[in-house]
Amino acid sequence: MKLSLFAVVATAFILALSCASKPKDGTDASSGASASGRNAALVTDSIEPIAGGSRTLVVYFSQGSATKRVAEDLALIFGADLEAIAEKKARSTGFFGFMHSGYQATFKIASRIQPPVRDPKDYGRVLVLTPVWSWNLSPPVRAWLRLMKGSLPAAGFGTVSGDTEPDKIAASMAKEAGAAPLAIVGFSDRDFSPENRDAYITKLSSFVEKMR
Ligand SMILES: Cc1cc2nc3c(=O)[nH]c(=O)nc-3n(C[C@H](O)[C@H](O)[C@H](O)COP(=O)(O)O)c2cc1C
Repeated sequence: MKLSLFAVVATAFILALSCASKPKDGTDASSGASASGRNAALVTDSIEPIAGGSRTLVVYFSQGSATKRVAEDLALIFGADLEAIAEKKARSTGFFGFMHSGYQATFKIASRIQPPVRDPKDYGRVLVLTPVWSWNLSPPVRAWLRLMKGSLPAAGFGTVSGDTEPDKIAASMAKEAGAAPLAIVGFSDRDFSPENRDAYITKLSSFVEKMR
């Protein structure tokens, strides 16, 4: 009981810090949703699609739309299948839902997810994307990686955050999956602003090259 009270207070504290450190034009994490601004040109206008080669699976969880957007862009480039991880219980996006999500992420809890539709063993490469919650990977992506431990083909890991570096989270992903990634990439909400389109394309392109 004491521990859970501490956990809630600690989580509230670090999440408050997280919100306070966000840029003014960035997404307010407390809303639970990011503004990915799906109004840009197709990514394949700037990055040549990968023809032939290994079959690719792009796996992601997205509570807002940012991680979904990166997943769809990567799927377009690689001609990949998409697996959207679905949780068994719908996640609330209000204040208590936000606190609960932060608590689960902080304490590395894997949430209960629906049985995956696609099997990564059927693919030559898999790209796994998670939103960053409380400086950690999201509980549903943790659950998927744990479930697939030891069965991933060549893997690339990506994070989408308010403003957090991907390294520590990618290391947790590798540990859960039992697989070292060929490449990692970290996007932040400001990468989706129209004025940052070039930077977004450059980041995406560098990740694609490493996973080619
Ligand atoms: C519960 C929660 C905790 C978050 N914690 C962080 C954090 O620690 N660091 C950060 O940079 N962004 C944090 N964010 C912001 C999200 O990572 C960011 O908005 C991301 O783009 C959301 O992806 P989505 O739109 O695919 O759900 C948090 C968001 C939520 C909902």
